[in-house]
Amino acid sequence: MHWSKRIARFAIALALGSIAPGAVGQNASAKPAAQTSTTSADEQNWWKNAVLYEVYPRSFQDTNGDGIGDLNGITAHLDYLKELGVDAIWLTPIYPSPQADFGYDISDYENIDPQYGTLADFDHLIAEANKRHIRVVMDMVMNHTSDEHKWFLESRSSRTNPYRDWYVWHDGKGETATSKGEPPSNWQSDFGHSAWEWDEKTRQYYYHRFYIKQPDLNWNNPKVHEAFKDIIGFWLKRGVGGFRFDAITTLYEDPNLTDEGVVKDENGKPILNAFGEPELDSTRTDNLPGVHPVIQEMRAATDKFDSDTFPGKRVLIGEVYLPNVTELEKMYGPPGKPEFELPMDTQVGFINKLDVATFRARLTDAEDKLGGHIPLLVFDNHDRPRIDVRYGDGAHNTDIERVISTILFASRGASLFYYGDEIGMKTTPPARREDVKDPVGITGWPKEKGRDGERTPMQWDADANAGFAAAGVKPWLPIPPTYITFNVKAEQQNPDSLFAWYRNLIRLKKTNAAFAQGDNTMLDTANTKVLSWLRQAPGSPAVVISVNFTAEPQTVSLVLPWAGPGASGKVTTLLKTPGAPDPASLAAIQVGPYGVYIGEVQR
Ligand code: NOJ
Repeated sequence: MHWSKRIARFAIALALGSIAPGAVGQNASAKPAAQTSTTSADEQNWWKNAVLYEVYPRSFQDTNGDGIGDLNGITAHLDYLKELGVDAIWLTPIYPSPQADFGYDISDYENIDPQYGTLADFDHLIAEANKRHIRVVMDMVMNHTSDEHKWFLESRSSRTNPYRDWYVWHDGKGETATSKGEPPSNWQSDFGHSAWEWDEKTRQYYYHRFYIKQPDLNWNNPKVHEAFKDIIGFWLKRGVGGFRFDAITTLYEDPNLTDEGVVKDENGKPILNAFGEPELDSTRTDNLPGVHPVIQEMRAATDKFDSDTFPGKRVLIGEVYLPNVTELEKMYGPPGKPEFELPMDTQVGFINKLDVATFRARLTDAEDKLGGHIPLLVFDNHDRPRIDVRYGDGAHNTDIERVISTILFASRGASLFYYGDEIGMKTTPPARREDVKDPVGITGWPKEKGRDGERTPMQWDADANAGFAAAGVKPWLPIPPTYITFNVKAEQQNPDSLFAWYRNLIRLKKTNAAFAQGDNTMLDTANTKVLSWLRQAPGSPAVVISVNFTAEPQTVSLVLPWAGPGASGKVTTLLKTPGAPDPASLAAIQVGPYGVYIGEVQR
């Protein structure tokens, strides 16, 4: 889509009220965004320029001395989140669970795990979050339950139990009265090895895309659909702002149980996964067409709870890792049958390499190929090593974290980040197998150390246990030694810290009209070292952003789409890497190693 056409979309957004009226034309320098009164249109459109923060509750703040974070710990830090500028928090699962996959194995969808608190604590969290205009988004796991959920206990009890077909059961290949035969297909679990588990009592295999203790539900059964509509209603009535649908593309499998193909390298040799087995192509178990009608159904059930007052529009966020932008676009739903408001754009955030051309292409796709929908950028979560490992070079990690967060917040759309990214927390995997907590690491050790390294406790200060838990308490995962340098308290006091950078960027996102919803247009598109783009909204100054993807200083010369005689070429700095010079004009913007420059274009 041409940049001028995209401006029309912005004008419509302004008319609809999705941009706070006070934001237009303001210069977003260091002052906090003033609390403005909201209109019902704001409440409907809040998600379009939202700042979303992922909390891993187990690791955020322990308040009861068991070394495990809890709901009251999250409530205690709402002012912190407000100061950062967060609009909504997404909580990874807090329901009762045997915690085999740290909450993604749910045994009761309508309660709170006692490790995290009670329903009363949850209601208190919602009430306190409401006061600060922060929405609470729940994780909803629909692909599987815990094997300790009552549905599965019933299902596995006999072949004739009414819950039998709530799960995916099949005979083994070549099964006889005395032999279980082979698993029904070659499909593999994401947690390693066959996705089929033999159940001796009823002599069939059940399917588990994830851990053995996470049997897949059978979405061909209409009762499963009804059960989940009831569950989401339960939480929406309690005031949640929406859901993040876990592993949503894995709801269906090929009914013919066809084997999946083996992925090969350029020499035709099978690629081995972290568990030493051939990597499969997922064509029979992922992103099958049945997924879309389910999302449409859940969206319709969720929309019934929309209101004109806070929390307003309830949003659905999709955990989707898709092969291309065409598949991502489908996740918004066809005309008249909406699906996700915000499917995660993992196309951008998980490039995992600072390559200017790839970033430029993927960000352009987000502008031009998502049918005008709102992109949700995300670079980090509880399943992947943090930004330091995936983008860092060891020598310039904080600067690189500035680069990444600039792309996250200075692009059009909603931005999702992971607790601790704002202070530059580092991935800290366990050193010994006996210390591993994540089942992925236990099965995959030593090649795959699991996800503990990105789930370590939040680093609040430089005191014992980094302020996560009282002194003398043993946290469920060890505190990384880097907490002495990278902690909230120290960074709040330092205007050049990464925390200050996040806060300033978020303020720009909220208060500068071009940032709030201006279109993205790539600039200087032949440059392979610096990524530059323009944000532009009608009636307000345009903003240019340049981020250096190299360890050497660079100078860029930016030509704007409308430049010509009379254009001043001057810029006013809004934000830049600490210590960088102010450029004399657009013709010579200097960006240091992994440096960032953000400036407003003068007319
Ligand atoms: C995706 C979640 O983010 C991950 O943590 C979990 O293990 C799987 N889904 C299974 O629920």
